[in-house]
Formats: sequence, C-alpha cells, structure tokens
Amino acid sequence: MKIGVVGSGGREHAIIKALKKNTSIEKIYAIPGNGGISRDAECVPDIKATDVTKVVDFCKSHELDYVVVAPDDPLVAGTVDALQDAGIPAFGPKANAAIIEGSKVFSKDLMKKYNIPTAAYEVFTDINEAEKYVETCPIPTVIKADGLALGKGVIIAMTREEAREGIKTIMAEKKFGHSGDRIVIEEFLEGPEVSVLSFTDGKVVIPMISSMDHKRVNDNDEGLNTGGMGTIAPNPYYTEDIAKECMEKIFKPTIEAMNTEGRTFKGCLYFGLMITKDGPKVIEYNCRFGDPEAQVVLPLLDSDLFTIMKATTDGTLDSVPVKWKDEAACCIVEASGGYPVAYQSGYEITGVDEVENVYVAGADLKDGKLYTHGGRVLGVVETAKTLKEAIDKAYKSAAKVSFKDMHMRKDIGQRALKALS
Ligand code: AMP
Ligand code: GLY
Repeated sequence: MKIGVVGSGGREHAIIKALKKNTSIEKIYAIPGNGGISRDAECVPDIKATDVTKVVDFCKSHELDYVVVAPDDPLVAGTVDALQDAGIPAFGPKANAAIIEGSKVFSKDLMKKYNIPTAAYEVFTDINEAEKYVETCPIPTVIKADGLALGKGVIIAMTREEAREGIKTIMAEKKFGHSGDRIVIEEFLEGPEVSVLSFTDGKVVIPMISSMDHKRVNDNDEGLNTGGMGTIAPNPYYTEDIAKECMEKIFKPTIEAMNTEGRTFKGCLYFGLMITKDGPKVIEYNCRFGDPEAQVVLPLLDSDLFTIMKATTDGTLDSVPVKWKDEAACCIVEASGGYPVAYQSGYEITGVDEVENVYVAGADLKDGKLYTHGGRVLGVVETAKTLKEAIDKAYKSAAKVSFKDMHMRKDIGQRALKALS
C-alpha cells in the first residue's frame, strides 16, 4: 500500500512513525513534510498542505491507497471531501464537520443547543457592541476570534483594559484577518486542563490516552502562549470518574449532535477540556490530532494505527482493537530561542541519531545534516512504566539533541507529578 500524510510538523512525523509499524505499507509520502521527516518518508516539498487541488492531483497521479489529512486548515478547506470525490479514501472529517474547529461560533452554538457543558458566552459581529459588553462583563474574560488563527486567536483578559485592547486587536486591527470578523466573548474558567483525543467513525467514539499540553513558552506557565512546549500522557487529572462523566456528558453527545446536524464527524476529534469545580467543560474542539499531543499519545498505542484509521473512514470502528500500553510518555519540545515572537533559523541540529524518538517539526536537510527551520524545531519523546521515569528519560535524551539558541522548558510534567503525589 501507498499512503500519503498531509502536513509538515512533529505531529505528522509521529503519525508517520506509527503508520510505518504496519508492514503492508510499502511507501509513505509526506505532503509537504520537512527535512527531518524525509528520513522516514518521501517528502513532497513543492506542494503546500493547504493547496487542495495540487494535493489531490498528486495523490491521484501517484495512485495512493489512503491519505491522512493531519492539520486543521486543509481539513476545513475540504481536502477529505476532494480526495473522496477522486476515489481516494482519507482520514479526517469532511469540511462540514471540520467546522467544529473552523468556527468557534459554530462549536459554541452546537454545545448550547445540545446541552454540552462549556463556558457561558456571547457572540459579536459589531465592534461597538463588543466594546459596550466588556465594560460590564465579569473579569477576567476570554476573547476568541471565530475562525482559525494558528492556535493564537484566544486572548485571556485579566483586566478590563486588556479586554478592550483584545477586542481592538482582533476586530479593528484584524490581527487574525477575517478570522476576527466575529468574536466569542466567554466566561473565564478555572481548573486543570486535559486534552482527550478520540477516534470516531460517527457511530462510536473511542477516547485515546489523555494528555496534558504545556502552552506557555517559559517554566511555571509564564510567558506567551505557543503551539505547545511539551506534553505528558496520561493526564493524572483525568480520573476514571471524570472519564465516565466526559463520555456521557461530552463525547457521545457531541458525536450525536454532529449526526443530528447532518455533519457526521469521522477521524480524530480532540476535546480540550477544563476540569472545573462544576465538572468537566469543553474549552475547544479540534478536528485533528493535537500537536504535540500526538507525539505522546501515539507511542502508547498498542494496536495498529492504520487499521484504526481505515475503520474510522469505513464506519467499522466498533470491530477493530484499540489498545493502549500501560505506560507513560513525555515529549520535550526544543524551540528556536525567541519563539513565538522572532527567531533565527538555519542552525545545525546535532545528536538526532543518538535518540530513537525525535519528531521533527521544522528542519531542512542539506548534505545529510539537519538545520533548524521555524519556531518549534523538534520534540524528543520517551516512554516508561511511570511518568517520573518517562520525564527523566525524555530530559536525558533531549540533552543529546541541540542547536544554537535552543530553548526548552525545564518543567514539563512537573504539575502532573505534583497531582500524582
Ligand atoms: P483554545 O485555543 O480555545 O484552546 O484556547 C487556548 C488556551 O486558552 C486554552 O488552552 C486555555 O488555556 C485558555 N482558555 C481558552 N478558553 C478559556 C476559558 N474560557 N477560560 C480559561 N481559559 C481559557
Ligand atoms: N496542542 C494544541 C493543539 O494542537 O491545538
């Protein structure tokens, strides 16, 4: 079989490494992939993940048997629909279901309509109305651009002044372009966050091992929000009782709601949850694997990823095994110094060959050497019997991989360890 994986980050690298365990897969193309991924798959650097027409043409002309569409924007743009129209089965939701991530207004309205627990909210298209509202709303408050914004369209306003500024940034200055034409202003929730990725074929929903992201750039959760500086799995806050409650009040109702709306979701549905004192609430849905959540979740999978993916497409998920190792995992992200604001690229990366699980997010390959290219450069992952061991191993391995001006957090997993003690 020949498989395509659309995307170019650490998540795609983790998906590719997991798929490679299936011996009936002879060839994997990463579209476009990156220099680090090219050691595990054939990269197609000239085709952008978001160029639906070129992606489909490539998959057709290379007679691919199955395609995994990993990032949010190609999913929202309808890549899975276009591939299916071309006769190629693909992993991921169609555009009419990917909207669950593509529009915050859609997802909030869905949750309200189907009584799925989430933060209370108001929607605004008029900047004057939004400005009026934040003069009296409870503070802190949370302002979100409606559309995709590379995970950065969320402003947590701790003061009224920050709320006013936030509205200006999104709606007047258009920092996130048309994504900010509409905004959601919602209640500030408190509690530990849990990421739960799930496989679903629209009939059954199978949660994967829970995980915890570390979004802030610096230790102790300080500094700016990033795409994710590290992850651990499983998440100790996701107890058996919470898991049951999530299944009954959030996971199943979401799948059923999407069916009722005529928007059956197939693929990986990611639930970003906050465990509040009133129980778990949805912070966000993503229509795909999280990055860097996939990097800790997939190495713990004890079943064949391709078989599961194909079953979500075929609607046969209830008949395939989805088993997990009784272990823990930790991913340490190594980023370019200055990320997520300004940073240099082009530094040589050393030590990658000394570590087994390095998932490369941004690197070029030149004359057999890897050079940094982008903000988040790579993630180093280790698994072990306990979380403490996984963290220690991951930091030991991460110390072997380096480049100039490299930045990593030193406290990935510490909050989880405290919760366990
Ligand atoms: P999102 O892109 O919606 O996941 O938001 C990014 C981050 O902002 C989340 O991971 C949370 O840490 C935080 N966040 C989003 N919504 C809320 C909320 N209603 N209350 C508190 N924190 C929030
Ligand atoms: N790590 C969060 C995300 O993938 O959106």
